[in-house]
Amino acid sequence: MPPITDPNVLVGLATADDAAVIRVSDDLAITLTVDYFTPVVDDPYWFGAIGAANALSDTYAMGAVPVAALNLVGFPTRKLPMSVLEQIIRGGADKAAEAGISIVGGHSIDDAEPKYGLVVMGKVKPDRVVTNAGARPGDVLVLTKPIGTGIISTAAKAQMAPEAVLQNATQVMAALNRDAADAMLSVGAHACTDVTGYGLLGHLREMCAASKVGARVSAQSVPVMPGVYELAEQGFVPRGTHTNLEFVNEVARWDDEIDEVMRLVLCDAQTSGGLLIALPQDRSAALSDALKKRGVMSAQVGVIVDEEPGSVAVTRD
Ligand code: CO
Ligand code: CO
Ligand code: CO
Repeated sequence: MPPITDPNVLVGLATADDAAVIRVSDDLAITLTVDYFTPVVDDPYWFGAIGAANALSDTYAMGAVPVAALNLVGFPTRKLPMSVLEQIIRGGADKAAEAGISIVGGHSIDDAEPKYGLVVMGKVKPDRVVTNAGARPGDVLVLTKPIGTGIISTAAKAQMAPEAVLQNATQVMAALNRDAADAMLSVGAHACTDVTGYGLLGHLREMCAASKVGARVSAQSVPVMPGVYELAEQGFVPRGTHTNLEFVNEVARWDDEIDEVMRLVLCDAQTSGGLLIALPQDRSAALSDALKKRGVMSAQVGVIVDEEPGSVAVTRD
């Protein structure tokens, strides 16, 4: 990609952030982002809802408010009935309505496998953008959803995920990060990203690199969905999660007591994961209250430290 020279591009490609931010006037910037993927659950309605929640998440992670969206659809018209496509689209539309926006258009192609997602446009005041590059030593790290959806989805494809485990993961993936972002903005954060394909530690590495800081994570304090560790032990680990662990190992220091399975869990590729928020220690109680008030779970999973930029140390406790 050629370097971006437009001075109105406030956030571009350089910091691997969640969305591009483009200033359109002194007090208004738009955010632009796109996400789509192949099914992570069997149920077409919930696949649509999760695809939309996941695509909207990057907007919330920038501290922006979604304005409108476009559908991106791939569908095997000769292999599957159109009623399946209708349910995917309806799941996405319901989720967009929950986010307070309309899906105003889109594009579809005939494809070997179903794919669904959104292009999302959002708005934000240029001086209120929350990037992944503002974390400072002493900040605490707060995560707003439990992890493990990659491992659960992989087990589900082999019909090996217990029904209750899959149901729980489906609800977590379909949940919007709107309320978590709203709580974050009410308190004020230094940095934020959402946890998706690179996993918790992969996205943390990127936040640390962009912010030129290091991080320490306490493995025990990371919320993990029920059943995940056991399924990972049985080998239901997606390819992307292994790749994430290799990516993280380039910069990570691990406590010896953290076994290989737990290392994979902490790097598990997420679909529509929670927000990872860095904020000053003295605001963490206020954030926890604001999240609780909105019915959002959260856990303090680590701290930002003044160490090798981009480095991540993981302790057991
Ligand atoms: Co993102
Ligand atoms: Co994204
Ligand atoms: Co078109």
